[in-house]
Amino acid sequence: PPAGALDIVIFGGTGDLSFRKLLPALYMAHLHEKLSADARIIAIGRQDWTHDEYLAFIDSHSPAFIDASAFSASDWQHFLARLTYVSMDVMQGDDYARLKTLCSQPALRVFYLATAPSLFTQICARLSDAGLVDAQARVVLEKPLGTDLASARAINTEVARYFGEHQIYRIDHYLGKETVQNLMVLRFGNAIYEPLWRAPYIRSVQITVAETVGVGSRAGFYDGAGAMRDMVQNHLLQLLCIVAMEPPISLDADDVRDEKLKVLRSLRKMDLADIKRDTVRGQYTAGASEGAAVKGYLQEDDVPAGSRTETFVALRAHIDNTRWANVPFFLRTGKRMQQRQSQIIIEFADQPFSIFGTAASHEPNRLIISLQPEESIHLEMMVKEPGSGMKLHPVKLGLDLQSTSDKRRAEAYERLLIDVVKGRLTHFMRRDELEAAWTWIEPILAGWKALDDKPRSYSAGTWGPAASSALMAREHLSWFEEA
Ligand code: BG6
Repeated sequence: PPAGALDIVIFGGTGDLSFRKLLPALYMAHLHEKLSADARIIAIGRQDWTHDEYLAFIDSHSPAFIDASAFSASDWQHFLARLTYVSMDVMQGDDYARLKTLCSQPALRVFYLATAPSLFTQICARLSDAGLVDAQARVVLEKPLGTDLASARAINTEVARYFGEHQIYRIDHYLGKETVQNLMVLRFGNAIYEPLWRAPYIRSVQITVAETVGVGSRAGFYDGAGAMRDMVQNHLLQLLCIVAMEPPISLDADDVRDEKLKVLRSLRKMDLADIKRDTVRGQYTAGASEGAAVKGYLQEDDVPAGSRTETFVALRAHIDNTRWANVPFFLRTGKRMQQRQSQIIIEFADQPFSIFGTAASHEPNRLIISLQPEESIHLEMMVKEPGSGMKLHPVKLGLDLQSTSDKRRAEAYERLLIDVVKGRLTHFMRRDELEAAWTWIEPILAGWKALDDKPRSYSAGTWGPAASSALMAREHLSWFEEA
């Protein structure tokens, strides 16, 4: 294990993210000896709990989110011994003095802000007042980082008063996924793709992040956000950046982030007519998900009557640069979709001329990159149908990424938390990048408002509203959906 004192201080320590993702990820890091012997986790929450009550809460909630094959009761007990719970009011300066007495001195301090973003600046200011922010301290900012450009800027400006940009880790857990990182290797570690990875050889790009879950118990947050802010502004745009960026000159954080920023800045701004034509909002109604009857969004707990929040978005985007001129990017995400499936589909342009005649069945070549649940890469190509004559039929050349190595595949949060500890910023968003994403998203949100756009309904367990298919059909394309 690495050496040195490390305090990971989690604000929002009793929240969903902590017990479902952060603590299970830290347990895995502990199990695989990626945390130093004296690394500690200080969980902060509003709940007036004793340390033992907190441990009991974590003990009853988190193991369900740990891979059973990796769970051992004794390792879990050792892990829990690293935890300290501090019940505090994050608005109270005095409480930070108490926090300070609990921190190791000296130590590398990582402050993980998994609270509402409205608290970020207060927490940073008070940490700084209490003398807890030294030159090596790091702060991790969980999404959503604001609700629009102005609020994102305000948070960034305030946090920058206490932490240098190189100390700020804006997390997007999609950037920690094995398959997302692999996308960079696919693109830049293989010579065969680069010459074709552009207009006019690519006809269209599709990015789908479909979930089967509904809003669950998160309506309090989600209803104010919707799929555009919750998924498109961050996860989908980050995927788009990795698919579309120019080769960075190195893997250094700023070299990669410079290229992603250029993509975001090249996204064509949409006016009202574009928004009407090229975006679709949806909201799920009652239906069936994975064999069980499920409620509609409006019937979910804590969803206000008549809510117009979208649980589905499909849109057509354009990147105005030389590489991507006239190549449409179709983005789609939704809750309560037919399948959990995150995929990137690169559809190559047709043969300029077919010697097999117009009657021959001919499918375009497609590169299908599946991010989750399965991790695979498939190339769809045409081969000859056996027998006399020259009939063509499509087949798939496939690679199951999980089978390519016996090495353990860490979950996104584990990998990213270790990056924070090691000071690696490559897979985190820089300030200008985040703001550029908002700059593109905001007019669309405003446009929907101006158009008084009502989400179209779709039954839970389907692929979204019909208008989503129509968006593609217009260009003689269709969403790639595997049964
Ligand atoms: C989160 C969103 O950022 O990502 C959730 O807030 C969503 O609404 C989740 O369910 C999806 O992440 P994953 O890793 O399950 O695809």
